Amino acid sequence: MAILITGGAGYIGSHTCLELLNAGHEIVVIDNFSNSNPESLERVCKLTGKDFKTYFVDLLDKEMLEKVFLENEIEAVIHFAGLKAVGESVELPLLYYQNNITGTLNLLEVMKHFNVKKLVFSSSATVYGLTERFPISEDFPVGALNPYGRTKLMIEEILKDLYISDQEWGISILRYFNPIGAHKSGMIGEDPFGVPNNLMPYITQVAVGKLTQLNVFGNHYPTVDGTGVRDYIHVVDLAKGHLMALKKTCSTGKLESYNLGTGNGYSVLEVVSAFERASKRKIPFKIVEARKGDVAICFADPLKAKKELGWVAEKGIDEMCEDAWRWQSLNPNGYDVNKDLVSPYLKSSEDFFVGNK
Ligand code: NAD
Ligand code: UFG
Repeated sequence: MAILITGGAGYIGSHTCLELLNAGHEIVVIDNFSNSNPESLERVCKLTGKDFKTYFVDLLDKEMLEKVFLENEIEAVIHFAGLKAVGESVELPLLYYQNNITGTLNLLEVMKHFNVKKLVFSSSATVYGLTERFPISEDFPVGALNPYGRTKLMIEEILKDLYISDQEWGISILRYFNPIGAHKSGMIGEDPFGVPNNLMPYITQVAVGKLTQLNVFGNHYPTVDGTGVRDYIHVVDLAKGHLMALKKTCSTGKLESYNLGTGNGYSVLEVVSAFERASKRKIPFKIVEARKGDVAICFADPLKAKKELGWVAEKGIDEMCEDAWRWQSLNPNGYDVNKDLVSPYLKSSEDFFVGNK
């Protein structure tokens, strides 16, 4: 029996594949590589010494999805696949609704057809929208601020309706705060296409000389130094949270939402300082206007995940920065593949199966 990982080649997916394999799980990955590179999975194989099947499949292609379920004995699904750039979602809302919502509906229909009813879903702290009180716990009101966030919220609603209709489903909705860092080996990490939208990959690219300076978005927030505060969480801690959620979902069923965060907030300038300590490099920065739609402060109350999943984030901000820096300095160009040349698989839609097995 295998765990199906959608979007397994991506940043969080690849780290979770590694943890699952190390914990002795069998996995099957599907990805359309729209925002990732098969090289991440090659490296997961190398790091774990374990092999697994990878399918070049788009969730919008329901027939191919069915083929994956036919060819493998899937017992549960961890569903990472989705588009995630907030700004892009404002420009291209239909793409986001189509990819994230239709993709998830296809997945759920196929799961139901094959009687696979255990799911761990990647949601986001973005579903809390504008919140005045902190830390944020799971029972806080939700309300998304952009199309990306609305896709997460809509999927959460769809999952709740599904569970109400049939309580054989077991579903964990994981609301991630701000994942950063990389695996200790420096072999897998975050590899955004183009100029990074997010703070840590922007900082690491400044450190490695690909970008000249960091733009700090606003310094008039009601925070320690006026810059935005977030709950940064090490991607390996986050990956481990999926294993705990999977265990719980498979053993008890139910539908539950969990915050995956550390409970600690750091400002942009505190992250810059931590990164400078870790990398021993200076990060030049300039204060610019606040980014539209940004919240001042966001950090989690992670107690529910501790109580019910037995999970706590263990790694602090210094380790997050050290690991992010190791990944970026060892891989200044990420997985180092031009998107057009990503892999032979992408050139031929007939080349459906990518895996080594
Ligand atoms: P990522 O872009 O690195 O990974 C997503 C993967 O899904 C990519 O490999 C992409 O190619 C694949 N994918 C996208 N659409 C697909 C489709 N239709 N069919 C098949 N594969 C498809 O992103 P990530 O940072 O690893 O995030 C994983 C999940 O976590 C996403 O759902 C994201 O919205 C959510 N999330 C991420 C963050 C974050 O800051 N990274 C925060 C909160 C939630
Ligand atoms: N920031 C800068 N300069 C940059 C990038 C970011 O100053 O170049 C600041 C932001 O203003 C914010 C902080 O750094 O104060 C973190 O910004 P990120 O873009 O890294 O992260 P966000 O909290 O804005 O958003 C991220 C994901 C969302 C997700 C959310 C909650 O991008 O998709 O975390 O999980 F919804």
